[in-house]
Amino acid sequence: MDSIVVTGGNALSGQIPIAGAKNACLALMPATLLTEEPLTLMNAPRLSDIKTMTALLQSLGAEVQSLQEGRVIAMSSLGPISTTADYDIVRKMRASNLVLGPLLAREGHAIVSLPGGCAIGARPMDIHTTALEAMGAEIELRDGYLHATAPGGLKGAKIAFRFASVGATENIMMAATLAKGTTVIENAAREPEIVDLAACLAKMGAQIDGAGSSTITIQGVDRLGGATHAVVTDRIELGTYMLAPAICGGEVECIGGRLDLVQSFAEKLDAAGIAVEETAAGLKVARKNGRTSAIDVSTQPFPGFPTDLQAQMMALMCTADGVSHLEETIFENRFMHAPELLRMGADVEVHGGTATVTGVERLKGAPVMATDLRASVSLILAGLAAEGDTVVNRVYHLDRGYEHVEEKLRAVGAKIERVPGA
Ligand code: UD1
Repeated sequence: MDSIVVTGGNALSGQIPIAGAKNACLALMPATLLTEEPLTLMNAPRLSDIKTMTALLQSLGAEVQSLQEGRVIAMSSLGPISTTADYDIVRKMRASNLVLGPLLAREGHAIVSLPGGCAIGARPMDIHTTALEAMGAEIELRDGYLHATAPGGLKGAKIAFRFASVGATENIMMAATLAKGTTVIENAAREPEIVDLAACLAKMGAQIDGAGSSTITIQGVDRLGGATHAVVTDRIELGTYMLAPAICGGEVECIGGRLDLVQSFAEKLDAAGIAVEETAAGLKVARKNGRTSAIDVSTQPFPGFPTDLQAQMMALMCTADGVSHLEETIFENRFMHAPELLRMGADVEVHGGTATVTGVERLKGAPVMATDLRASVSLILAGLAAEGDTVVNRVYHLDRGYEHVEEKLRAVGAKIERVPGA
């Protein structure tokens, strides 16, 4: 398995292009199942998670082509569609469950493997299934698979989520586009990826109001058509690269970055002593002066501080002046990076859902292990600030969500190499 070697100490300078959002693209791709006409996505990120979704859709009978070196994904679901999403693919990536709503809406039945837990927590699907049941589906768990049928077709319903789940909002929004009547989702997630999915579905002919607010109303239609849609900027990749100059000094312009995608994160950076400036091409980030200050962060659904940037923020806090508290409220087990950061000389204590980080002057390079996607990039960020070499092992997690991370960081002056595994 490949590893990445980072040699810390260089200040960074230059531009980093930000890709299309992995999480938006993973929700947009299953929308092909809602129409027999072509759906084309532009600005797609080149990631292994996208390949996994491609394989899943192809296993269901969709045609999926990767064009322009993966930047464009051309899909068509004209032919007969299989309705079983196999465990072998679903277990690799939880977002595979996003085919459930579209399959049920199109075919009236679907068999989708339950994803199981992952490194960051249990991740059940009750919010998805309760909502689909309210829309007339009958769902049974058999042999690890959700067997869903909608005998009389899906019907619009008023649904109040017990938690603003991103995936459930996407699944139900897609299912409701072809349901009979009106669906109202209350306590819907408000993430930019949901706004992006709604925009694409609207181009396909769906009638959706309120995406981006807590109440989304979907008026079912008889059929959807094709569309061409450009995937929104990846706010998590953006936030990650905004942290690079914050951690090692220098100035980096994140091309394609938008402040509205990372408002609460940028406010925290400002409080920590990092300046974020809007430019014609994106966002420019640099330390205001001297050492970063410790700040407290609590992860929240959008527009709050994203859980997907918590690990990277911890890397910054490791060398900040003072004591910071990072509270994780979305996932129960998302501090797996903490023990790895300890190996680099950080002072982190985890009690329940809160990590207390006492800033040290300097981190020291060490061999570390990546446990999940965001944890792995946080170790790379920490390595950029550390004295000596940091070897991040098990980087396959990284390739799920960051395209060409070494090239992007090298282009702004970082010392970082990929070492192919045996
Ligand atoms: C999405 C993102 C992920 C991000 C997360 C939270 C994608 C592909 N992934 O994941 O990167 O970290 O949002 O911003 O977009 N839950 C339940 N029951 C359910 C569904 C969720 O209890 O039926 C819980 C989960 O276990 C978790 C919390 O709700 O604790 C948030 O999950 P959710 O918003 O659904 O995240 P995902 O859509 O899986």
